[in-house]
Amino acid sequence: MVARTSLTEDEIAFVQRQRVARLATADAEGRPFVVPVCYAFDGARFYTPLDEKPKRVPAPQLKRVRNIQARPAVALVIDRYDDDWSQLAYLQVAGHAKLLAPGDEGHITAVALLRERYPQYRAMALELSQIIAMTPTTLASWRVETQDSAQQTNSWLETGRGVDFLPLARGRQSVRVFQDRPVPRVALEELIEAARWAPSPHGAQPWRFVVLTRPEAKRALAEAMGDEWRRTLAMDGEGEEVLARRLRLSRLRIEQAPALILACLYLSDLDRYPDLDRQRAEEVMAIQSLGAAIQNMLLAAFSFGLDTGWMCAPLFAQQTVREALDLDISLVPHALIPVGYKAAEPRRRPHRPTNELIVRFD
Ligand SMILES: Cc1cc2nc3c(=O)[nH]c(=O)nc-3n(C[C@H](O)[C@H](O)[C@H](O)COP(=O)(O)O)c2cc1C
Repeated sequence: MVARTSLTEDEIAFVQRQRVARLATADAEGRPFVVPVCYAFDGARFYTPLDEKPKRVPAPQLKRVRNIQARPAVALVIDRYDDDWSQLAYLQVAGHAKLLAPGDEGHITAVALLRERYPQYRAMALELSQIIAMTPTTLASWRVETQDSAQQTNSWLETGRGVDFLPLARGRQSVRVFQDRPVPRVALEELIEAARWAPSPHGAQPWRFVVLTRPEAKRALAEAMGDEWRRTLAMDGEGEEVLARRLRLSRLRIEQAPALILACLYLSDLDRYPDLDRQRAEEVMAIQSLGAAIQNMLLAAFSFGLDTGWMCAPLFAQQTVREALDLDISLVPHALIPVGYKAAEPRRRPHRPTNELIVRFD
């Protein structure tokens, strides 16, 4: 760990990427107190406002305010946790805090920076709020050093187009049990909007979606698919008990999902070829594109605070699904995406590290 008084470029990029910091203050007797805070950094000072988020007491009586008045020495930690421990990192800053009132030097800049980082502040009267300004006196940072160049976070990766993509990609996970809480229609429409922008062969967008939220529709689908699955599992020689349990679980997953999106392949607009090879390649491209469209939806859902799963069952019961939902023959059911809010933290299989996935990098 290296102590310094000004931030390196990488540290500044890290500070700009993270969304939350922990601010530690202490009262006159030295009793520590920590709160998570929203913050902005202007290259020299950190700012955190006494904003309009619901508080138990008015801003001037907040413990952090009383502590700073008694003792201006404070500490701030900005950290990044990820289940992939090669991504762990933090920045630790000690310094002096000062309360900026409206009209004080730096107050206007702080408000502008905070509003730039957090759109929520644009609707709050921050110009009338006090802001804590912290000047660092010492700082230290830490991150896992890795030999794997693919995992090193370079400063150009930190800036890019300003889109914080990797936390979305890492954060999305397959959820199989959902809370009994409906998903707003507008959110479901936004998921289809996200799918719309997926790459597709010739720009043909060879996919269509069925959105189900009504219990009767979900039940009809679950029943039809259950019957079909029972037939196939019986063919595999599954025992009655195992079979019944698997069917019950599958049915629950469909019926208890607050919303379901059935992703279908739609091949009518694709190019036609006289030979089988090219025709098959055309269809494979369409399936690849369907995967891209689905992934767009999954990531968009995660960015909205929703969770999703992926059920491949419709692929094995295409005609049954079509009949249960009264779909046109041109629609080829492929995947069922449950959408909702996770009921518990899912158990997740580990994802392979990057260096196992790149088989050659010349
Ligand atoms: C084509 C495809 C089919 C899948 N089918 C199922 C499925 O039928 N049931 C299920 O529980 N998960 C299914 N999954 C989800 C995978 O099990 C999951 O993505 C994988 O275990 C990695 O976990 P994660 O999504 O949480 O990162 C499917 C995923 C894909 C891409």
